[in-house]
Amino acid sequence: MEKIANGVWRLCFGQPENHTPVRLRKTEIRTEQLGKLECPGTPPFASQEIVVRQTARGVHIELPLAAEEHIYGFGLQLHRLDHTGRKKMIRVNSDPVADTGDSHAPVPFYVSTAGYGVYVDTARYATFYCGTNLRKGASEHKKFAAKAVGTSEIELYGYQVSEGNRAVVVDVPSAEGIDVYLFEGPDIAAAVQRYNLFSGGGCLPPAWGLGMWYRAYSAAKKEDVMRLAHTFREDRMPVDVFGFEPGWQTKAYSCSFVWDEGRFPGHEEMLEELHEMNYRVNLWEHLFVHPTSPIYSVLKPYSGDYEVWEGLVPDLSLPEARKIFSEHHEKEFVDKGIAGFKLDECDSSDFVHSNWSFPDIAEFPSGMDGEQMHNMLGAFYQETIQAPFEKAGKRTLSQVRASGALASPYPFVLYSDLYNHKVFIRGVAGCGFSGLLWSPEVRQAESPEDLIRRIQTTVFSPMALLNCWRIPNPPWMQVDRDKNIRGEFLDNYEQIRDICRTLFEIRMALIPYLYTAYARYSMEGRPPFRALVMDYPDDPNTYGIDDAYMMGEAVLVAPLVAGAAERTVYLPHGTWRCFWTNKSYEGGQTYTFAPGLERIPVLVKEGTLLPLAKPMPFVADEAVFDVTLHAYGDNARECRLYEDDGRSFAYRNGEYNWVTVSVNPDGTIRTERTGAYEGRRYRFSGIATFLNI
Ligand code: GAL
Repeated sequence: MEKIANGVWRLCFGQPENHTPVRLRKTEIRTEQLGKLECPGTPPFASQEIVVRQTARGVHIELPLAAEEHIYGFGLQLHRLDHTGRKKMIRVNSDPVADTGDSHAPVPFYVSTAGYGVYVDTARYATFYCGTNLRKGASEHKKFAAKAVGTSEIELYGYQVSEGNRAVVVDVPSAEGIDVYLFEGPDIAAAVQRYNLFSGGGCLPPAWGLGMWYRAYSAAKKEDVMRLAHTFREDRMPVDVFGFEPGWQTKAYSCSFVWDEGRFPGHEEMLEELHEMNYRVNLWEHLFVHPTSPIYSVLKPYSGDYEVWEGLVPDLSLPEARKIFSEHHEKEFVDKGIAGFKLDECDSSDFVHSNWSFPDIAEFPSGMDGEQMHNMLGAFYQETIQAPFEKAGKRTLSQVRASGALASPYPFVLYSDLYNHKVFIRGVAGCGFSGLLWSPEVRQAESPEDLIRRIQTTVFSPMALLNCWRIPNPPWMQVDRDKNIRGEFLDNYEQIRDICRTLFEIRMALIPYLYTAYARYSMEGRPPFRALVMDYPDDPNTYGIDDAYMMGEAVLVAPLVAGAAERTVYLPHGTWRCFWTNKSYEGGQTYTFAPGLERIPVLVKEGTLLPLAKPMPFVADEAVFDVTLHAYGDNARECRLYEDDGRSFAYRNGEYNWVTVSVNPDGTIRTERTGAYEGRRYRFSGIATFLNI
């Protein structure tokens, strides 16, 4: 076993494949940051405890799994949080409808409540059997135990291995060797941090990326877009990012990457106007290249041998293909002020709809096959699109529908066409185990109540996004799609809009707090959104909680879904305060909350001085946040905020500050800044003990 960095170990077996996430990575291990994390200093397992074998079908690995252990991770798993006793196939899929492991972002990495992480470096559709089976003969000692003949389905099929020598068995097809990486704890959170730092650290979004996002109707024309853009400002609806859906291009499905002057005549003036109104523009696209595209012929030699939607599939593992693709984006879009992209359809292994993607046996010029390319396409695509932003010295926060291993440095947030609200909430809880960010986006809704509940989840999530690509008018005017298209509006839409505005303003108020959580993600690898088990691994009551999560260090969010006026929330040990009312609750117990339609249960740790900014309609480049410190409990004395220019990469050269704000015994505020950033992004205007929202 070889030590790769502080707390990170590698076990090599045979001749691993050339095309794996580690071998193809472009990001650097954050060795120095890893060195700062305290760790036990011994690998979680001795090498003889891990069995690795070569078989005719590939590599077979067995790792120990103790009876009391619970395991999490495997990427964005929307249907389950705790994978103990389950089989998971790490296969990218645009329609992950069932709990099989299929995912927009499958990651061959898991963490255990025993306090370690395991990463298997493969791009294959590997299968992890998480303590599902015992070895032959293990149950012989039970042969005399009386066991009734089962008659119900639960008795017959509900069997779970709970004792004996359980193992995590991994099946990696095709490979003739494998590298297995082990991450020390001592707990889940530390193992995840190490994995993220090994991946290159978390991303740091621009401050505007944490504001509100609105994506407009797919068929919108220039005048429709401008009408919406003006209405948001007139109605004082905070919106930072304005997204264009497929209709902006001359061809989509596959893509030309060229503005359609028919729908958007003089698009450059339109962009200028949007920029003057302080919108950041984000463009939808996917990577399949239409024959009319200016990059088609140059990309053709660097593309796979099958088309998708009558377009090329560029081999973005090749520097030549990446260069052509990213230079086009640089010249045509990033240099013209485009702030980000929505990278759609790169999770292209559809099993449910029209089976539109390239086959697993497709061949790419790099030597990768279709299976490997499917699992890695999302990461390659993010790398390619990130490049022009790096070159321009501008941060982006963008969207992507596929990701995978070692992806935490990419400033891209995942989304899905699945739309079950509970599934979306689970995504927020679970994404942090695997270095991923997830957006529980809002489209149209079943009812105004559904709309409000969904918006509440999104404003307390990694990206606050309304994806209105199917409706021409804002959803608060009409939730029903057909009526929205016909322009028939709700009688009380102004009332619904006002509730939505307040929620958008809460998001804007949270930006300094969230930005600080993201800074820790970037520097220390600590995910900004986490399942409760990550923060409370010693409390088995948290092990299965997938409908509530931690946001930053001090806030627990428990969304409500339409149809439920109340819900229960388990509060881990410690004292908690209601975000809205400051009411105190002792942890270690479950409470029922019925906060009404306009609120969801949000609990703040006692002793927190929560920084909340005066909501702005958008985050301008030079924005200074007017921060009020909300004291949750009498002993709330100190708050720490991260500060930098909010948009460039100067922070990588040390141009940032840590701002410590404390309350003096006489109630006045003291501010201390350490760091080399000379600007000021926060003004502290006072202390409050109740929320004025
Ligand atoms: C879907 C995507 C949607 C929307 C649509 C446009 O695949 O998930 O959010 O962008 O494409 O055609």
